[in-house]
Amino acid sequence: MIVLSLPGARHFRLARRLQAMPGLVGVHRFPDGEVRVSLPTAATGRDVVLVAALTPPDDCILPVLFAASAARDLAVTSVGLIAPYLPYMRQDRAFEPGQGVSARYFAAILSDAVDWLITVDPHLHRIRSLSDAFGVPATAVHAAPLLAGWIREHVAEPLILGPDSESRQWVASVAELAGAPCAVFSKRRRGDRTVALTLPDLKAHRHRQPVLVDDIISSGATMTAAVRALWRAEYRAPICVAVHGLFAGEAFEMLQDAGAAAIVTTNTVRHPSNAIDVTPLLAEAVLARLRSRTTPGRQREEVAGEHR
Ligand code: R5P
Repeated sequence: MIVLSLPGARHFRLARRLQAMPGLVGVHRFPDGEVRVSLPTAATGRDVVLVAALTPPDDCILPVLFAASAARDLAVTSVGLIAPYLPYMRQDRAFEPGQGVSARYFAAILSDAVDWLITVDPHLHRIRSLSDAFGVPATAVHAAPLLAGWIREHVAEPLILGPDSESRQWVASVAELAGAPCAVFSKRRRGDRTVALTLPDLKAHRHRQPVLVDDIISSGATMTAAVRALWRAEYRAPICVAVHGLFAGEAFEMLQDAGAAAIVTTNTVRHPSNAIDVTPLLAEAVLARLRSRTTPGRQREEVAGEHR
């Protein structure tokens, strides 16, 4: 096996953990914006694992597709993709006639390019599981135990709070693993950057440290609204914990200014708030995927978990 990291994905150090040959995908940008990739020729005859950071998605996806094709040209045995953050999963339905369903199109593009895919907590709403969208084996690993581990280690008497009713199951599992009570806000999204949150009744937990937990911080509107609601109700300054810290534009600063006591994310998207390493989860999933090739009947199995 050879593990080839694309730019922006070198921090995972997966090759070391998998005891595989490490390598880099060289990405050259020409002055006009076109891109050329280069792979080590040592990939020939090996299972290739591409590791890619897909943010911002449109800039990052073409080098991945070109790298997969270049790998095939080197007569590799297989090409898998680890995309710790998998973009475009939110738009899974046409809300107006004529609207594109990006989740389906994106899954089709990736399924044509690679033999398997592994990601962390994809943002699925109406798609029940990754395997429903992908034509190749697709595995979702779940960061809930890592989030809970971080909370257990760093927060005394936490109260786990989810931003919306859809997050209830996931938040409940983080809370259970962290040995803490939980509750969820009710949320109405009014636009890309505007949400209205209603605080649940938390009176019984007033002495506890609120920990807001979400899968994604994108525009930051959800987390910021939750932080402000807790401040208004005079709870302690909350700690914000998320799997994917996308922090579009000024989202991080906005959240800090709103009064978050701390902001903690996993390293699926590289950011100064990263405090939780998902590499062990990814490595375990790669080994399971490669093992399953020799186990008939497990080709499209997905790691079990709740979907939102
Ligand atoms: C919603 O379903 C998600 O769990 C997040 O709450 C949401 O995607 C966060 O987005 P934003 O940061 O733009 O409010």
